[in-house]
Amino acid sequence: MTSKALNFQVTHICNTTKARVGCLKFGRNHTSRGPIETPVFMPVGTQGTLKGLTPEQLHQLNCRIILGNTYHLGHRPGPDLLKEMGGLHSFMHWDGGLLTDSGGFQMVSLVKLSEVTEEGVKFQSPHDQTEMLLTPEKSIEIQNIIGADIMMQLDDVVSSTISGPRVEEAMWRSLRWLDRCISAHSRPDEQSLFPIVQGGLDEKLREQSAKEIVKRNCPGYAIGGLSGGEDKDHFWRMVTLSTDHLPKDKPRYLMGVGFAIDLVVCSALGCDMFDCVFPTRTARFGCALVDSGQLNLNKQIYEKDHRLIDDQCICPVCKSGYTRSYLNTIVNKETTACHLLTIHNVSYQMRLMSRIRQAIIEQRFPDFIKEFVSIYCQDKD
Ligand code: GUN
Ligand code: ZN
Repeated sequence: MTSKALNFQVTHICNTTKARVGCLKFGRNHTSRGPIETPVFMPVGTQGTLKGLTPEQLHQLNCRIILGNTYHLGHRPGPDLLKEMGGLHSFMHWDGGLLTDSGGFQMVSLVKLSEVTEEGVKFQSPHDQTEMLLTPEKSIEIQNIIGADIMMQLDDVVSSTISGPRVEEAMWRSLRWLDRCISAHSRPDEQSLFPIVQGGLDEKLREQSAKEIVKRNCPGYAIGGLSGGEDKDHFWRMVTLSTDHLPKDKPRYLMGVGFAIDLVVCSALGCDMFDCVFPTRTARFGCALVDSGQLNLNKQIYEKDHRLIDDQCICPVCKSGYTRSYLNTIVNKETTACHLLTIHNVSYQMRLMSRIRQAIIEQRFPDFIKEFVSIYCQDKD
């Protein structure tokens, strides 16, 4: 699929599941950034930096696309400075892919004093307590200045655990906000705007949402409002229903999902892009990701454990021979532990996605899923 700012080609399709491998390219003539192979996981860098890693390190870990948040970037460095600096890519020294979320979701989940009206999301500035309003137009204006390759519409997000009229109201409002975002977008030749499927856990609403946004013929589509505490059964049902209604030739981005098991299953359900703060956040709390789940290196059982985090791991930390015992000693005391575990966890996510892609390409993805699930469900530690 080709639009002015984004090119997406599906290169391999799984015979059994809805999984596919594809390739994303960005920018005018699709030569600025990419190729980015999908399914892809995008680590989250909120304030124009991925906590604990330099952009050069990210590149070395085979990361080719990261996520930023309009809400955070709109405060610091702020639109004026970003405009002066010519956008975020050059300002933060990152020449890979960049996606920005629109800000509404972060505001509603981070700022307690926020209120949604038809105009936009009202909230109290965390800096000086003044009342501020994030409208669809304002979110797009800031995202145009940030200059990410993919921008997200402002949406009205409600918790996936509530039901009733508020869910329906939020779905239709998100659609009206999408149309305002499309009208406000001033750089469609350079940046791609993705709509977001909403509708909570209601099959009919989700289907309506997907059908309506597809009519807008956008370069790619996201699935939102999930992974917020609903049970797995509902989660998977909503993901598969959403992908069923999205076009096959455009990228599908499942927002806020990043547990290994969900990446494996949701790739099988036809999702191409994922993001989540979990791998980098949990690293800062001393947890290392492995196929069987995660190792909490704060635990005393690691005090004299001279093994690597994971002897299969190809990351610079495991390759250099850092032991669980050493990490247990420095975790929660030294920032070095944050760096080392963030390197391992980002590398883990990148390699997992590469293993998923390779299994799809070689038509052995169903076997990969079975083996992955059996290891994941083994006893931990
Ligand atoms: N991040 C995780 N879920 C969502 C969502 O539903 N909307 C937006 N904008 N961001 C998200
Ligand atoms: Zn490692």
